[in-house]
Amino acid sequence: MDLQRVEADVDLDQLLITEDEILGCLRNMAKEIESDYEGKDLLLVGVLKGAVMVMADLARALDRHVEMDWMAISSYGSGTKSSGVVRIMKDLDADIAGRHVLIVEDIIDTGLTLSWLVANLQSRGPESVRIAALLRKPDAMQMDIDVDYVGFDIPDSFVVGYGLDHGERYRNLRCVATLAADVYE
Ligand code: IMP
Repeated sequence: MDLQRVEADVDLDQLLITEDEILGCLRNMAKEIESDYEGKDLLLVGVLKGAVMVMADLARALDRHVEMDWMAISSYGSGTKSSGVVRIMKDLDADIAGRHVLIVEDIIDTGLTLSWLVANLQSRGPESVRIAALLRKPDAMQMDIDVDYVGFDIPDSFVVGYGLDHGERYRNLRCVATLAADVYE
């Protein structure tokens, strides 16, 4: 997709992270993960729908066997602020008891969703639960969460692309860009 054309189309504001930067970052993250989990079974848990692109590229950058499973949870309505109210729309297929689980996330904003998810997964008796997130907004975080692998810290503005949406649009952009405020305010 041609960003210029999309920009003209859909009110993107600023290109924040290019596709090359994202892929380079995920390759480095994959190397760290390979070394940290050497000799261990690993289950990647993706959070639908935003983490689809991160999962696809991170999993393929890993030079080892991994399993992938998915959860769909919802904490956002149609707006842009986290409600903190989390509902499971689709649960994991796998039993994670005794397993090493790595949550794969697109973005950590307030951290409310993720802290709920970590507690939920911990209650299922896994061997370990860690977090890999492509993006984090440090200025927006309300929860103290240990994120083991972080791609980029970004400013506290609403971003789209590479899996992230506004009203289900823009997920298929290859880059991450800020959305013009007048689109969502
Ligand atoms: P949190 O609970 O505030 O950390 O929000 C978590 C979820 O909100 C993410 O997994 C995204 O689905 C969504 N989200 C947070 N910030 C953004 C953004 O800037 N753009 C698009 N979605 C976002």
